[in-house]
Amino acid sequence: MTDILSHTEAGVLTLTFNRVERKNSITGAMYDTLSDALERAVDDSAVRVVLLQGDATVFSAGNDIGDFIAAAATPMDHPLPLPAMRFLHGIAAFPKPVVAAVCGPAVGIGTTMLFHCDLVYAGDNVAFSMPFVNLGLVPEAASSLLAPRMMGYHRAAEALLLGEPFLAEAALEVGLVNRVVPPTEANTVAQAQARKLAAKPLSALIETKRLMKLSQQGEVRERMDAESVSFGKMMRSPAAREAFGAFMEKRKPDFSKL
Ligand code: COA
Repeated sequence: MTDILSHTEAGVLTLTFNRVERKNSITGAMYDTLSDALERAVDDSAVRVVLLQGDATVFSAGNDIGDFIAAAATPMDHPLPLPAMRFLHGIAAFPKPVVAAVCGPAVGIGTTMLFHCDLVYAGDNVAFSMPFVNLGLVPEAASSLLAPRMMGYHRAAEALLLGEPFLAEAALEVGLVNRVVPPTEANTVAQAQARKLAAKPLSALIETKRLMKLSQQGEVRERMDAESVSFGKMMRSPAAREAFGAFMEKRKPDFSKL
């Protein structure tokens, strides 16, 4: 079974998270598959738009925590695990439009990758969360820059410091999603919107997206690199070890001495 399904039709490359038994948590191999697909799509004239989706029950539970544990055991030669960084830089710089359909849990990078999508359609069962602090970690994907900018500082602090989930209505209010629909319709609605984009002149889409992102592109890249250095340190900290261990052992973490 492939953990990322890939299908191109009517100018839309649809990439589907297909690891539902692990809540579509993303492994290094999955990041590499996504990055390869994005890199190929840049120059593939058959691809005019990319659509990222899960199913009606789950978008993604974020980075595979087993992979975090493995990466934390390696020497500090790389900050954030490299496959994740490659994917984040790839999606942040991707020149063609990216659409997402998001239902159920969208945790960690499952939420932060959406800051780099152009259109987002959510099922009304969506639960966004960025629980980096709860895992002894720091934000990635330039979300420490883009979340306060999009949501306002205090709402971003609730999401990033308290790590509290926020639901469809709040996401709609801050503009993280374009529309909320029944979960069984999210992928269909997003696909229809993606096909509308795909029917437009591609060079005008690319140029418009470039201009819309022009003022923040350098900042985003720099912030991602800064976050990645912190992430690498925090991932190896006693707090993260405790949080990862607690997740694996299905218990509450104990940060009282950390
Ligand atoms: N990494 C590795 N395995 C994960 C995972 C992750 N990020 N998220 C879920 N899984 C696994 C669970 O361990 C469980 O495995 P098991 O069947 O062997 O027990 C399986 O996927 C199903 O998850 P479960 O927690 O039972 O589903 P749920 O519906 O009760 O809860 C979530 C769904 C997404 C809320 C919950 O799984 C969760 O909080 N996951 C961790 C999210 C996270 O912290 N990600 C990192 C962000 S930086």
